[in-house]
Amino acid sequence: MIGIIGGSGLDNPDILHHACDVEVTTRFGKPSAPLRRGTIAGRDVVLLARHGREHTIPPTHVNYRANISALKDAGCKAIIATTACGSLRQEIGRGHLVILDQFIDFTRLRHVSFHETFDPHDPAHTGMADPFDATLRARLIETCRRLGIVHHEAGTVITIEGSRFSTRAESNMFRMWGADVVNMSVAPECILANEAGLPYASVAMSTDYDCWKTDEPPVTWDNIIEVFRGNVETVTSVLVETIAAMD
Ligand code: ADE
Repeated sequence: MIGIIGGSGLDNPDILHHACDVEVTTRFGKPSAPLRRGTIAGRDVVLLARHGREHTIPPTHVNYRANISALKDAGCKAIIATTACGSLRQEIGRGHLVILDQFIDFTRLRHVSFHETFDPHDPAHTGMADPFDATLRARLIETCRRLGIVHHEAGTVITIEGSRFSTRAESNMFRMWGADVVNMSVAPECILANEAGLPYASVAMSTDYDCWKTDEPPVTWDNIIEVFRGNVETVTSVLVETIAAMD
């Protein structure tokens, strides 16, 4: 079973066969939406809309722990997530995909761990040096190459708290820190997947240049959704073809 977490612009995609909705609750509460179970290329898949099917849950208030728990409880052995992101590099253009390989967590108000207590003498400090799964990333890159999709084979995302966008000073600082793209959801989703022992990869679509570029107006939500919707088939084809090629 493969879990897909659909981000902004992929809240309600129709990419599963034999689909049905399953309402679930976890020990951390309810996930953002019912799980949509079905198949892609004959493989069992569960799809979850990160911000709810009607995009009603702001990034700070997504119950990331319930989302990851729900996918684990459903039997998922791996998670592929999608996210819109702002580009912090000239060469990452609108509509390009980035197969993320690192994150910087700039969030402040989220549960960033499943662990609220440790077992005696067994503190569960999870390694996070390479948080995105190498095998899943290689499969996604292979699909992008095969389909001739413009993509970047690595990239560091900085996740901000939101819901506001960054100031220009922050955007410039993120560039100096070495971040390539900015979003509002990879942390703590990726952290929790690692804690849960679930291989996790993320396909990020660049939708804007945030606000560091002074030769164009700063990002707006309308820009993001327009670019994402205009390129949504690119992301869905990468998901479908990657899952179809999995063994
Ligand atoms: N998601 C898409 N574009 C973004 C941006 N510029 N900042 C944060 N999250 C984003």
